[in-house]
Amino acid sequence: MTAIAHHCSNRTLRSALLFSFALAVPAAAAAEDKGDGKQVFQDQKCTKCHSAPGVKGGKKDLAGVGKRHDGAWIEGYLQKKKELDGKKHKKKFGGSDAELKAVAAWLASLK
Ligand code: HEC
Repeated sequence: MTAIAHHCSNRTLRSALLFSFALAVPAAAAAEDKGDGKQVFQDQKCTKCHSAPGVKGGKKDLAGVGKRHDGAWIEGYLQKKKELDGKKHKKKFGGSDAELKAVAAWLASLK
């Protein structure tokens, strides 16, 4: 661990990570602005079980879910490819790939 921390190329790696993060943030913000993900959330009846900031719904509030998972994880989870505490999601996502990406990006932005 210490050997890695002292390695010089670590700094380069860190700025590369920061750079890609800076690129990723405006993309997520754009998806949020259009309100697509939020719309998909309502259209796909996620609200039967979940509520979210600005969306009334079921008991399982998804506020702050973006602190726990990123968009890629949420996409996998909604397709039942990933597990949460050893369990797959209740419902397999029924919309299109674009809708899946939009709703996952929106949820990941809830921090
Ligand atoms: C039939 C009820 C039901 C429906 C409909 C449903 N979910 Fe869930 N969802 C759950 C349950 C149960 C969990 C397990 C976590 C929990 O108990 O809070 C969960 C967990 C999640 C999590 C992880 C939450 C966390 O805190 O880590 C996300 C993200 C999520 N659901 C998104 C969605 C989306 C998006 C939709 C609509 C496409 C949806 N869910 C529809 C029941 C449902």
